[in-house]
Amino acid sequence: MPLSKKRTLTQYLIEQRRRFPQASGELNALVLDVSIACKAIARQVALGALAEAPAGGDVNVQGEEQKPLDIISNLMLIKQTEWSGHLAGMASEEMEKPYQIPAEYTRGKYLLVFDPLDGSSNLDVNVSVGSIFSILRAPPDVVDSGRDVTEADFLQPGAQQVAAGYALYGPTTMFVLTVGNGVVGFTLDPNIGEFKLTHPAMQVPADTREFAINSSNSRFWEPPVKRYVDECLAGQTGPRGKDFNMRWIASMVAEAHRILTRGGVFLYPRDTKDLAKPGRLRLLYEANPIGFVMEQAGGRASTGRQPVLGVKPSSLHQRIGLVFGSKNEVERIERYHHEPQEDEKNTPLFAARSLFRD
Ligand code: AHG
Ligand code: MN
Ligand code: MN
Repeated sequence: MPLSKKRTLTQYLIEQRRRFPQASGELNALVLDVSIACKAIARQVALGALAEAPAGGDVNVQGEEQKPLDIISNLMLIKQTEWSGHLAGMASEEMEKPYQIPAEYTRGKYLLVFDPLDGSSNLDVNVSVGSIFSILRAPPDVVDSGRDVTEADFLQPGAQQVAAGYALYGPTTMFVLTVGNGVVGFTLDPNIGEFKLTHPAMQVPADTREFAINSSNSRFWEPPVKRYVDECLAGQTGPRGKDFNMRWIASMVAEAHRILTRGGVFLYPRDTKDLAKPGRLRLLYEANPIGFVMEQAGGRASTGRQPVLGVKPSSLHQRIGLVFGSKNEVERIERYHHEPQEDEKNTPLFAARSLFRD
């Protein structure tokens, strides 16, 4: 079998680093370790029901059932990265508190935050799942003192991410990465066990005719979301004047990948289903990394009201409304959120404000 000329992830990272001679190479090393953990997770996921079922069935801090693979993936990411001296600490969907780098290892300057397995409810039905990661700088006093990390150290807006990406375990395993200058995608070559650069400049088309939302929640949606979806469903004869297609995989990471590949818009908006949970997805390890990838690919990511990357997090496992994908659709949805609702138009406040008058 001829060896393909496509560059490996390692080669790509080395070439990128040559453009920044002052860079220490630590970020590259960290990204490589994350990618190795993802390869290990991919193998484990691919075993499916052949794997001997280890302990699991616990409930995580989110109040959600933990699958054995959630726990294994979490451990694989920890073990593959904690030893390296590049990390000051970690945080994960599957751990209530930040993870401290054990005393036997050197502590470093980055924080790693991850959803070790996104879409894990799809595992039993053999549908694509993935891992999502975000890399932040540790605050200077953490780096200087080498002290334990606290929850507060992680509460940085997504705009401060140094790198982010995901691995997708589908018909092929892919690794998609941004370090803040575009988005690149690698496909795992199973013959040599290496990620090869197959998608050198991923771009989300600005327009789309495809949306993704769990419409079983429609009775809980806020009016701007209802309006947006109604208009899509009305198709050619409605105000949009075109027909829309719909998809729902229930693995956000797989939806993100589809949107990066052919455009589309994804909504898991804030709703009234459970007022204690403003949205389904988590800000630090789902919304922010996917938001960074989207924006770097020319798409947009929003809470519906503001760019998601601008949100100052208030807690490690904070949930948030999330809308991302093709720029013009996301902007439209934001516009709908900012326009006064029909019922507001009749309030005295609305009538008194010339800005809102028809
Ligand atoms: P996780 O498996 O990490 O808990 O995340 C699952 C998320 C996300 O991937 C997906 O978009 C959403 O949950 C699915 O929600 P529904 O169950 O409402 O379809
Ligand atoms: Mn998830
Ligand atoms: Mn998960």
